Amino acid sequence: MILVTGATGTVGRHVVRSLKEADVPFRALVRDAGRGGELGCEFVVGDLDVPASLGPALEGVDHLLLNSGGALPVAGRQPMVRQQNGAIDAARAAGVTWVVKISAWQPAPEAKLSVRGHWEIEQHLKASGLRWASLQPTGYMQNFFTGRGGFPQGGTLAGPYGTGRVAYIDAYDVAACATALLTRPPLDDGSHPLTGPEALTHREIAAKLSLPFRDLTPREAAEGLRAQGLPDWFVTDLLELYADLAAGAMSEVTSTVQDLTGRAPRTFDAFLAGR
Ligand SMILES: NC(=O)c1ccc[n+]([C@@H]2O[C@H](COP(=O)([O-])OP(=O)(O)OC[C@H]3O[C@@H](n4cnc5c(N)ncnc54)[C@H](OP(=O)(O)O)[C@@H]3O)[C@@H](O)[C@H]2O)c1
Repeated sequence: MILVTGATGTVGRHVVRSLKEADVPFRALVRDAGRGGELGCEFVVGDLDVPASLGPALEGVDHLLLNSGGALPVAGRQPMVRQQNGAIDAARAAGVTWVVKISAWQPAPEAKLSVRGHWEIEQHLKASGLRWASLQPTGYMQNFFTGRGGFPQGGTLAGPYGTGRVAYIDAYDVAACATALLTRPPLDDGSHPLTGPEALTHREIAAKLSLPFRDLTPREAAEGLRAQGLPDWFVTDLLELYADLAAGAMSEVTSTVQDLTGRAPRTFDAFLAGR
């Protein structure tokens, strides 16, 4: 039995669809019964913030998809770290053997925002004695529609991106890799850096979205972010992430989606056509 956490999210919804297609036994952990009902699969209501609520969800589970997000840091700490570390402990206690974690591109102790949080969780997972795989995707193509990371605002794709290329990935492919690993665990534990098939500039992406592109200076970007009410430390960290993107930190294209699923990842055009 597989337990899918974060099942109602951008990646999680695709995991649910793809596990249904694979016709394997699984259930979803959801915070809201109404949203669980919409998934069309077995679900248990629980909250990663309430470890006691995970017991019923983990009953008879041997494989776990560890996936959550969404909450902003509180006093510089990611709620996600507390939540997922608690889920790892509960999974071990419940007899889970194999954990597939949705992480992020190049998690490291010096990384910013949620990427550092993912690194912390990976450390906890590796020390847990459970078998593990970490999927480390670049940015999701879906961000251009969900508004994550300050993407299109006011009908313009604007940001301090310069000419840096980013190999964005469709969450559909992240989910396909998760499904492959959940249903066919490899012999070895390990990390899997995931990218789309091409690295694009934001000017090229804006053209695909039929939007004008405006390359902001870091100062202009900071002013826009502060105007949204984001705290200074958060804006500073976000600008560092943008600077890394502009310098090509997510421009590498890996073969991991092809290796894990046997097919090429979706291009940006295919992602747009499938919406
Ligand atoms: N966006 C990107 O470009 C990107 C890139 C690399 C890695 N990632 C990572 O990918 C992961 C998944 O991202 P996503 O965009 O799919 O996230 P998302 O759409 O925000 O979904 C988050 C999921 O977590 C669930 N959740 C949140 N708090 C919970 C709690 N306390 N207890 C139980 N469930 C909870 C949400 O459930 P509800 O329906 O109840 O809210 C939702 O199903 C995140 O860890 C993110 O850091 C994202």
